[in-house]
Amino acid sequence: MIRVLFVCLGNICRSPMAEAVFKELVNKDHLSEKIAVESAGTGDWHIGHDPHPGTLKILKKHDISAEGLKGRQIRPEDFERFDYIIGMDKNNIADIRSMLGQPAHPKIFRFLDLTHHAKDVPDPYFTGDFLETYELVTEGCAALLQKVKEEQFI
Ligand code: 4NP
Repeated sequence: MIRVLFVCLGNICRSPMAEAVFKELVNKDHLSEKIAVESAGTGDWHIGHDPHPGTLKILKKHDISAEGLKGRQIRPEDFERFDYIIGMDKNNIADIRSMLGQPAHPKIFRFLDLTHHAKDVPDPYFTGDFLETYELVTEGCAALLQKVKEEQFI
């Protein structure tokens, strides 16, 4: 199994959105027995919480399942468990490296560096713009699936 972990700060807005969108792409491609998807936060405020209502609303609007999304925090063993650890912004990357006790490693990278945007995913918890985030997440997920398929020969 190839394991993908999306990481943001709170694990209620951006990374659960990416988890749900990426799972949808994986399912559509009949790859759910090969690729497992999770998300986590660097912060601990939302452990066990449902996604933000704004994330749930935009997923529902696009007919994407939010099943199984529950806040959790990253933990050191995630470094061994996951093949791809994807931060939503540069602060997430710095926090992931320090919390997992790892220096720069190619399996830890910033999401939109896979796209021509090469920038942080704006945090809708602060911007209020869930549509902007959804559109960037969708683009990032398509690029990520391409990368995983190429690298894993699937
Ligand atoms: P997220 O957004 O990292 O995209 O889930 C946030 C959600 C909650 C908080 C910060 C960012 N918070 O401070 O509670």
